[in-house]
Amino acid sequence: MPRMLIHSAGQLLTLSGGPQRGRTLGSLGMIEDGAVLIREGRIAAVGSDSELRRAHPDEEGLNAGGRVVMPGFVDAHSHPIWAGDRAAEFEQRLQGKTYLEILEGGGGILSTVKATRAASMEELLAQTRPRLQRMFNHGSTTIEAKTGYGLDFETELRLLQALLQLDSEGPWDLATTYLAAHAIPAEFEDRAGDYTDELCENWLPALKEWWAPNAVDKALPFVDVFCETGAFDLAQSRQILETAKGLGFPVKIHSDEFDNLGGTRMAIELGAVSADHLISTSTDEIAELAASDTVAVALPATPFGLAEAHNMPAKAILDADGLLAVGGDLNPGTAWCENLQLALALACRTLKLTPAQAIAATTINGAAAIQRQNEVGSIEVGKQADLLILDANDYRHLGYRFGINLVHTVIKKGTPHPVAASLHVST
Ligand code: NIG
Ligand code: FE
Repeated sequence: MPRMLIHSAGQLLTLSGGPQRGRTLGSLGMIEDGAVLIREGRIAAVGSDSELRRAHPDEEGLNAGGRVVMPGFVDAHSHPIWAGDRAAEFEQRLQGKTYLEILEGGGGILSTVKATRAASMEELLAQTRPRLQRMFNHGSTTIEAKTGYGLDFETELRLLQALLQLDSEGPWDLATTYLAAHAIPAEFEDRAGDYTDELCENWLPALKEWWAPNAVDKALPFVDVFCETGAFDLAQSRQILETAKGLGFPVKIHSDEFDNLGGTRMAIELGAVSADHLISTSTDEIAELAASDTVAVALPATPFGLAEAHNMPAKAILDADGLLAVGGDLNPGTAWCENLQLALALACRTLKLTPAQAIAATTINGAAAIQRQNEVGSIEVGKQADLLILDANDYRHLGYRFGINLVHTVIKKGTPHPVAASLHVST
């Protein structure tokens, strides 16, 4: 198992101390001239360069060369498994059609469902693997990954199975989410209630049965719902999340991406792990959310991808002491972007986060949004050794610079994966 001393980190961002609420967001726990000792793929010591080099003189070294060293990104929201593309819809939207109009006309998510249902397991794996590799190369070491382009029992399960396989292939870690409630499939057109009943009465209990023997040792997946006009209304969303919760699944919600149906308040009431998008969320709901343990997941690449001006009122969440994470929302409809650094840079501009806040929102708080805060998201003794060496000496270059990859090396479970320039290993 990998062991080494990463030394000469000009700025070592530990993000220590757990998830960061409200105005404490952005506490980087920075050690200038820092070092990290890795044993058995885990973090064994964190401290100053001189102290750790003195204590471990014979350890194999990885020279960070004065660069920034920080935790791997935890992308708390992605839809990485699908077949086909929606380039034509992108063009239609630019010509004036809205996202919900396209969905209503049987396109949007439903056109990806058609392509995905027609794809074999091999094709799905072959299309998804390079997406995950690109996410990883851009620094996402742990990735939440949703199903949601199958919308029938077999295909949703196939997507979940593919995600479990891709998780075991690694080097990334995936946290899986079952999103059969992503849209109403064509065969249930105008029968959203029947689809909801089918999901609740048959699919979720069957998923529960299927999980233990097929995903040995893994915690149950999240169950998510797209609570939105044209997708699931508030009552249907409640039925799905309550059923899931009753079966023991942790739950999440896509709420207020376009219209406010009341999903956020319901998610808080149900103790959802996260509520995501939150663009048309009311001031009252923001206050209630901030007072809860439900993590608000901002997805600034989505309005950017849709060329829409509205964004999550992230500052209001922080002012009210809420928990805020920033995710990527990789998907073929609204945001085909594997680079979480772009979401981070957008968060600085459209959500008005500082680079430090955006870094915390994509690491330790991203981990909190998928219940992995004890395992990843910060550089602390005992945690998995998932680290990034940036091609920069000042952490603020994340956010400041955009559209390129600032990751020099991804270290996953203690193993270095060079991304950019050559890796400088010294002893
Ligand atoms: O998060 N809102 C629902 N899901 C995605 C879009 C999915 C799609 O258009 O394919 C989102 O934006
Ligand atoms: Fe999404």
